[in-house]
Amino acid sequence: MIVISLGGSLVSREKIDTRYIKEIIEILREAACNFKLGVVVGGGRTAREYISAARNFSNNDYILDKIGIEATRLNALLLISALEDIAYPEVPRTVDEAVSYLKSSRIVIMGGTEPGHTTDAVAALLAERLNAERLIIATNVDGVYDKDPKRHKDAQKLKRLSFKQLLDIIMSIPPEPGVNTVIDHLAALIINRSRIRTIVINGANTKDLRNAIYGEDVEGSVIE
Ligand code: UTP
Repeated sequence: MIVISLGGSLVSREKIDTRYIKEIIEILREAACNFKLGVVVGGGRTAREYISAARNFSNNDYILDKIGIEATRLNALLLISALEDIAYPEVPRTVDEAVSYLKSSRIVIMGGTEPGHTTDAVAALLAERLNAERLIIATNVDGVYDKDPKRHKDAQKLKRLSFKQLLDIIMSIPPEPGVNTVIDHLAALIINRSRIRTIVINGANTKDLRNAIYGEDVEGSVIE
């Protein structure tokens, strides 16, 4: 069992990237012959656009998160429509629902679940629940750095790191609105407590995504 967190910005940045989606679909289609797959997709531009529009009317983070969640589910439905019959036709609304849909032997694609975290945490919880072989975080940066690369010019990418190292790095960056860590705080806690082998890659590099799925060497970071 492999769980993939597919960053929303990969699917939609300026607009919905149908060329990228086609590439991903081919990779998933092929991988589904060898692995059971759960995919959690982020909200990307759609989430950001709706959340920023909603901020004109409400400062309530719970409500803003609920709007973000719906955007992630819309992206999930888009991928389901592209995968046709090899994907389960419904978007699970909870991790438990995803587990039950996975019994169908089809790829299950979901978005967010509850306010208060991002789809990384959903993917970590799904991986934990399923005792997944590995969790792949496909995002828009090329790995985990020893410190925040946006603030420190001398930050270095770590090819391998321990669960504790990951936790220390993520927790050293306080959660702030608009400040994204490479993996969200809850996801880092879940990965650490259940020692989930996690591979962080730049999802735009589809070769690396394929390598991560097949357990081959990647250019990103491996947490184990
Ligand atoms: P994403 O998982 O796409 O978050 O969910 P993100 O890290 O901000 O986006 P990317 O990966 O850089 O594109 C979008 C938003 O939906 C809400 C949060 O507001 C999140 O920022 N969300 C998502 C939840 O509240 N709960 C979830 O389970 C998932």
